[in-house]
Amino acid sequence: MKAPMNRRKFIQTSCTACLSATALAGFIASCKTTKYISGKLGADGLYVNKDEFKLDKKGDENYRRFIIVRNEALQYPICVYRITDSEYRALWMQCTHQGTELLASGDSLQCPAHGSEFSNEGKITSGPADRDLRTFPVTVTQNELFIDLRKA
Ligand code: FES
Repeated sequence: MKAPMNRRKFIQTSCTACLSATALAGFIASCKTTKYISGKLGADGLYVNKDEFKLDKKGDENYRRFIIVRNEALQYPICVYRITDSEYRALWMQCTHQGTELLASGDSLQCPAHGSEFSNEGKITSGPADRDLRTFPVTVTQNELFIDLRKA
């Protein structure tokens, strides 16, 4: 016969399960809100349709703050921030400390390795990294962004 679980053990087990479920829900929510695309690779850079920033709410003109371009031709993804309809920023998601891939949330990027943080302009807001992120010029046409990978 199985021994009954004592009160302390029950509370520890329940809390662990509850915290795990909460962490999982948060992770799923963040995955759901972050949009990943591969973009269209050209000779000099990447093309991204501006509609990729639109949220899927009927009749609303709501936009994502950023999307992440993850293309197999690139060693790291590029986080593209929408500032206005005619202004975008493209940031290379490689931490300038030791090269770890960054995580994006809201208007900042964080490094999971040692905690460096960068603004949506690619500027360091918290070390140990001591250099800003690599950025790329973005040209905006009517429906498309061109991220120029030739310049940094
Ligand atoms: S590699 Fe990013 S803070 Fe160290």
